[in-house]
Amino acid sequence: MKLDRRNFLIAASTATMATRIKAEVIKESIQKHGLADAFVGDYHVGAAVSTDTILSEDKPTLKLLEREFSSITAENCQKWEEVHPSEDSWNWSASDKFVDFGEQNNKHILGHALVWHSQIPSSVFQDKAGDTVSASVLRRRMENHIGTLVGRYKGRVHTWDVVNEAVSDDGYDDWRPSAWFQILGNRYMEEAFNLARQADPNAELLYNDYNMHYPQKREFLVGVFKDYLDRGVPLDGVGFQAHYMLDDPELEQIEKSIDAYSALGLPIHITELDVDVLPKAFEYMGAEISTNFEYSDKLNPYPTELPDILQEKLASRYEKLFGLFSKHQDRIKRVTLWGVSDADSWKNNWPVRGRTNYPLLFDRQLNPKLAYTRLMNLKR
Ligand code: G3I
Repeated sequence: MKLDRRNFLIAASTATMATRIKAEVIKESIQKHGLADAFVGDYHVGAAVSTDTILSEDKPTLKLLEREFSSITAENCQKWEEVHPSEDSWNWSASDKFVDFGEQNNKHILGHALVWHSQIPSSVFQDKAGDTVSASVLRRRMENHIGTLVGRYKGRVHTWDVVNEAVSDDGYDDWRPSAWFQILGNRYMEEAFNLARQADPNAELLYNDYNMHYPQKREFLVGVFKDYLDRGVPLDGVGFQAHYMLDDPELEQIEKSIDAYSALGLPIHITELDVDVLPKAFEYMGAEISTNFEYSDKLNPYPTELPDILQEKLASRYEKLFGLFSKHQDRIKRVTLWGVSDADSWKNNWPVRGRTNYPLLFDRQLNPKLAYTRLMNLKR
């Protein structure tokens, strides 16, 4: 009897030891791996990579990128003004390093952005005399840009933001009156998608825009995309930039747009997620909306650190957003944060230059914030 009891106790302690070891292995694995591994069953979790990070070979940031994210997006280095600063000159150094880093670390690589009205040399739309070019000249320039850039990374860049922000901010229910639209009409967008498909038949091609939760924008774009899909325009998915505030937009509006675009059979990419924790500039500017919001201390209330109460609000907001994304993980292919750490964020300078913002998951010392921990706990 004693012997059986002894064997039982040995067996029980061995089993307990095994369970404890397994728990340790899982815990150690999550510690060694990061956010993307926690969400691996749902969608890619990515980050935008600044040109400085790439060119300076910022080891701490690159190491964090490698551990925490499964997808990377070129924040600026593949934009027209950076990669193709004039008709006959290309600047490949940062873009090549970005793609090399992605390949060496087995990342899903996003190219951004082929056709946009911003960060593009005005010379693209002008002749040598400074007059507006003809449609045929601009069409040829777009063909050369997309063919060269997408062609260079054929089979290496998996997904491209082909057209960025083509919808007007005046009513959100028509085409943006950009130089692209004014010279080529609204066909410029489908021509860009066709050119990208020709340059790399296997790349995933996205339309990307902000405020994709706006009902008017949703209705306008659903109409455009339905027509594209009927005519075989090679649109493969929709990018929600998702530059959000702590309490805006409501999850319900985001969900309505996830439903509407998914109903067309188009996968959703959350392409530029960040959560602005600072006061809205226009609330302080009253009715007078200026194009450059002047800096004021009132608009920069946390210059040295974010109070705990706001860390908690930010964490809760990220928890709810990722909860919504995971609820629709069958329709959402990727969630990309628009930067690695708070230090990188464009929100430190827009819409007010020189503020200290805290919109991302890692702080200025590259430490995970409360929001990061809450997201990891969603998957524990
Ligand atoms: O490279 C120059 C540098 O040489 C110069 O010294 C410096 C002086 O200010 O400017 C640098 O260029 C800046 C560029 O980022 C690269 O850092 C521009 O001023 C600055 O305006 C530009 O901001 C970018 C912004 O797009 C431009 O609209 C942000 O980094 C970038 O995060 C942001 O990203 C866009 C997406 O591509 C599309 N969706 C909206 C999102 C926010 O605008």
